[in-house]
Amino acid sequence: MLILGFESSCDETGVALVDASGSGTPRLLGHALHSQIEMHQAYGGVVPELASRDHIRRVLPLTDAVMQQAGLPLSAVDAIAYTRGPGLAGALLVGSGVACAMAMALGKPVMPVHHLEGHLLSPFLSADPPEFPFVALLVSGGHTQLMRVDGVGRYELLGETIDDAAGEAFDKSAKLLGLGYPGGPALSKLAEQGSATAYKFPRPLLHSGDLDFSFAGLKTAVLTQVKRLANERPEGPATPQLAAALNETQKADVAASVQAAIVDVLVKKSLSAVRSTGLKRLVVAGGVGANSRLRAQLNAECARLGLRVHYPELHLCTDNGAMIALAAGLRFQAQGWPAGADAAGYPFDVLPRWPLSSLA
Ligand code: KG4
Ligand code: ZN
Repeated sequence: MLILGFESSCDETGVALVDASGSGTPRLLGHALHSQIEMHQAYGGVVPELASRDHIRRVLPLTDAVMQQAGLPLSAVDAIAYTRGPGLAGALLVGSGVACAMAMALGKPVMPVHHLEGHLLSPFLSADPPEFPFVALLVSGGHTQLMRVDGVGRYELLGETIDDAAGEAFDKSAKLLGLGYPGGPALSKLAEQGSATAYKFPRPLLHSGDLDFSFAGLKTAVLTQVKRLANERPEGPATPQLAAALNETQKADVAASVQAAIVDVLVKKSLSAVRSTGLKRLVVAGGVGANSRLRAQLNAECARLGLRVHYPELHLCTDNGAMIALAAGLRFQAQGWPAGADAAGYPFDVLPRWPLSSLA
């Protein structure tokens, strides 16, 4: 069962081919990605219309590259998967349109996939795949959630952010430090030169007793600190010049301190979730899962507590087509094709807002 998967929910066009034959974990046969980051950088964030147009330009050449890697013709594909949501409506429509058109031309079924389910299951493509059940920490640019995962499609939301996502906290702090978009990786790199204890930033909801997160206040705390270091009034505007008034040590110290605050909260809440469910396994997925401090701290804590922790391969932490083809493959193995996914039904629909907990 060869499944071709398309990811186009935001600013990465991803295409991949997996082999989901038999009952073993689907194997990745080919995988190609184009990141639009450079194109959006000039605007300080993703411009949805530009994103859609670029997905259109990239998706077919990437598909050719994937089939070439696999050494197979397109006619060998048995089914096509695409990201149905959540994400940018226009960007999602490119993936769904191409997937449905290609499936119709080939006379093969399509399978719509939830983007976060793709992230959640992506560690199954790693050298050290998890086993069900586990607690999942989903940390991306738009989501921060703790889920109990008992199997494919069996997801229970344990807690989530009540405002900004962890990735947003990284990105907004990075912007204040003049690090561009998306700032997570740049902030993390700069933090290596700084002191994590230089500034005391809040750890929101650390002791709230539930598994929810809040990161919106952190941005204000970072802004206040940056203004103080720049000798600006607290009530003054947040201008791009603020960061320029800081020296390199100050910037690195702010980066290290804010990263420590975000990571402390993510680690503490993840361990609380593992404790409250009584499970022994943690899976971390989504772009922020690439963060080295988060990985180091979770590895140390899980080793101390006798827990297993699993991550996607580093290059599959951020958005990609492999996780979409994989999620479709695991679903196919667990449940067969969903109703309407046969060759007669090409839904061509997207769900820009789609809670993962509504999946069955
Ligand atoms: O999962 P993802 O690629 O896209 C969404 O589905 O949102 O996650 C992107 C997010 C961005 O906020 C980015 O800054 C963050 O992941 N990110 C990181 C790192 N790499 C990516 N944050 C902290 N440290 C990193 N190394
Ligand atoms: Zn994502």
